[in-house]
Amino acid sequence: MSDQLDNPFRTAPGSEPPALVGRDAESSAARYSLNLSESGAPAQPIVFTGLRGMGKTALLRRCVAEAANTNAVIIAIEPSASEPFASTMRRGIERAAKASASLPQKLRIGFEKIIDALPRASYELPNDLGAVSLSAPQHETPDLVNALEDLNDATRHNGRHLVFAIDEVQSGPVDGLRDVVTFVHATANTKRPAYLLAAGLPGSREHLHKVRTYTERWRYFRLDLLTVDETKDAIAIPARERGVHIAPAALERLAEESAGYPYFIQEYASAAWLAHRGDAITEGDVERAIPGMRRLLEDDFYDARFRLLTPRECSYVLAMADLGPGPHTVGEIAAQFGTTSETISSIRNQLVRKDVIYSPASGMAEFRIPLTDRYVHQHKPALERRAHDSRVQRGR
Ligand SMILES: Nc1ncnc2c1ncn2[C@@H]1O[C@H](COP(=O)(O)OP(=O)(O)OP(=O)(O)O)[C@@H](O)[C@H]1O
Ligand SMILES: [Mg+2]
Repeated sequence: MSDQLDNPFRTAPGSEPPALVGRDAESSAARYSLNLSESGAPAQPIVFTGLRGMGKTALLRRCVAEAANTNAVIIAIEPSASEPFASTMRRGIERAAKASASLPQKLRIGFEKIIDALPRASYELPNDLGAVSLSAPQHETPDLVNALEDLNDATRHNGRHLVFAIDEVQSGPVDGLRDVVTFVHATANTKRPAYLLAAGLPGSREHLHKVRTYTERWRYFRLDLLTVDETKDAIAIPARERGVHIAPAALERLAEESAGYPYFIQEYASAAWLAHRGDAITEGDVERAIPGMRRLLEDDFYDARFRLLTPRECSYVLAMADLGPGPHTVGEIAAQFGTTSETISSIRNQLVRKDVIYSPASGMAEFRIPLTDRYVHQHKPALERRAHDSRVQRGR
């Protein structure tokens, strides 16, 4: 039982992995920019993008934790389309105020001023009487930029620097994000630059472009699958740190099965850990753990979506999977399908609606879930049977 509780692998979304591997270039770019900003020089904002489960939040949190050690005042937010941006900001700023223990007076006043400038979405009544909601329109924050300037001045006055960390940036309302982006941009021209780090799905760049076109010149890192060696490190290092050796063949199988997808790495490694006894994970442990975990993940990630596909949609995903991972132009997919992109645009739209593919940029399509192409190949005969009825035949 203690073996089980000692499991180092972390499957919860956004959880810090026991070894954050394969993201050195991204981490050091963020570290460099944060140091630059701390020293008073402007630095290019950085955005981590990638499909679900690629490790964007984990990396953003790691960078934020490092920034916290460099004296940063961090406003960390996760905007969503269903919440007024002002409320999201307000909570982020309140958290930052709480985290900045025993605030010097000027900084405390800076925090108070900005919190006052932001409308509350709900107001807590005293003596545990609950909360009342106030409608807080999105755009009624005329003082936000002024208040951010005051907070920035107060932060610098106290020898600290201001950092925004925005997760799920693709969900942030354009008008709300514009205040923060414009503010950060304006400070770049001063001796007190504020810094911004963000993470979001592919498409974040296009979303930010709507906020301000100069965000095109920010630095974007697309997080992708880890290499085989990185995957092995992500599994072997945490086990070794707990005195557990993984047999080379077992490690090989785990790397193959998880295919470098960070979320799968944690899931498969965790299942293997739970199957082992003593101080070694054997090939037998891994072989016992894999089928159940594969069923679970296939069910969660792919089966539910794929069950809903029509024969024509099955043909489309088969054609797309043949092109391999990554985004493809709709023209390439149509050519693989043996037709024109106009002819199959309605199938594409249906697949977008069914959440199987999405458009990371105009004229492009990509599977929404990592390793979908592998899933399609592994289930090819069944999908081909279902596609058989399709009136649009591939290769014609
Ligand atoms: N570099 C890494 N090495 C190993 N495991 C990682 C790495 N990065 C993240 N993970 C693990 O992968 C899983 C997914 O990470 P995370 O939630 O950060 O992804 P995400 O890209 O933010 O996903 P989402 O788009 O759903 O928010 C977590 O279990 C995390 O611990
Ligand atoms: Mg995330």
